[in-house]
Amino acid sequence: LNTYTLKIIEIRKETEDTSTISFKQPALKKITYLPGQYITLILQINNRKYRRPYSFSSAPETDATLDITVKRMSHGIVSNHLLDIVKVGDAIEVMGPMGEFIYNKERMHDGALFMWGAGSGITPLMSILKTALHSQKKVTLIYGNRNLRQTIFYDELLKIKEQYSDRFSLFNFFTKEKQFENKVAFFQGRIDAERITQILALYKDKSDSLHYICGPVELKKVVKAVLLQNDIKPENIFTENFEHKVDENQLKEVRTTFVNLKKDGQRVKLEVIKGKSILEAGLDQQMDLAYSCQTGTCFLCKATKLSGNIKMVGNETAPEKLGEDECLLCCSYPLSDDVEVEIK
Ligand code: FES
Repeated sequence: LNTYTLKIIEIRKETEDTSTISFKQPALKKITYLPGQYITLILQINNRKYRRPYSFSSAPETDATLDITVKRMSHGIVSNHLLDIVKVGDAIEVMGPMGEFIYNKERMHDGALFMWGAGSGITPLMSILKTALHSQKKVTLIYGNRNLRQTIFYDELLKIKEQYSDRFSLFNFFTKEKQFENKVAFFQGRIDAERITQILALYKDKSDSLHYICGPVELKKVVKAVLLQNDIKPENIFTENFEHKVDENQLKEVRTTFVNLKKDGQRVKLEVIKGKSILEAGLDQQMDLAYSCQTGTCFLCKATKLSGNIKMVGNETAPEKLGEDECLLCCSYPLSDDVEVEIK
């Protein structure tokens, strides 16, 4: 995969714990991307190499810079590094754009766009939203947050609303906001099935509408279920996997054991502690492994299973893209003591 070195030209604080980092496009080899995609930052922190995917919050047609928006995660080594250490003028190595959560305006469709997001899930939606409005589409954003203060892009969204008042509708949901002095009304509570149904009922012709959902797993589930009940075609619903949530029940039969990992003709014996994926165990041992998303979607961590039993958890996106003996190391957990995998 192509890598680029990008220079930071601006860092903008969006909320208390979130900032947008703007990179300058390289002069010669410009990065082309589609709204909704992400880039993978490669960072060396305390002698260890980390790769993390970050969605573009910029839109290729409306922004000259390449922007990512980073929210601080508790114990997030990379997000803390980006928010506390990195500064304007620094150069960062990145892997080229990836991701299937895209808005491709070449794809013909006449319907409106609906974006369903919560918290930092707004990032790729922002890129899609700006592109769609720029290309004359009608857009509705349903956006959930704790309160106004923690709402990323709140002011920018108000400006967009003023600019495109005829084509952009914004529904804010706050779980912990009481008083509201601003111009925009909001719903109290979460984006739940009842509210989703009410919002959809406001729109008469939804048959050709496109729906982009980005946020916690629960939000994706409920929005998708209600959309399907409302006869939205499944192929018009797009979701982004931001988190790889593993339920302990799914790992019941998984054991702490050793796994042989073959790479470049060498065999490394890895101890895989119960709860860690084989990829995590390899990274903990400082192996230089290809990966990005860690949610089972980019397929960069694909390997071939040579022996033993593995359980794959969380790669629901496209299991059909894997061959019979193939697995994704970020989603793979050993079930037996004789697991051997090879990265080709
Ligand atoms: S790191 Fe992306 S699929 Fe495993």
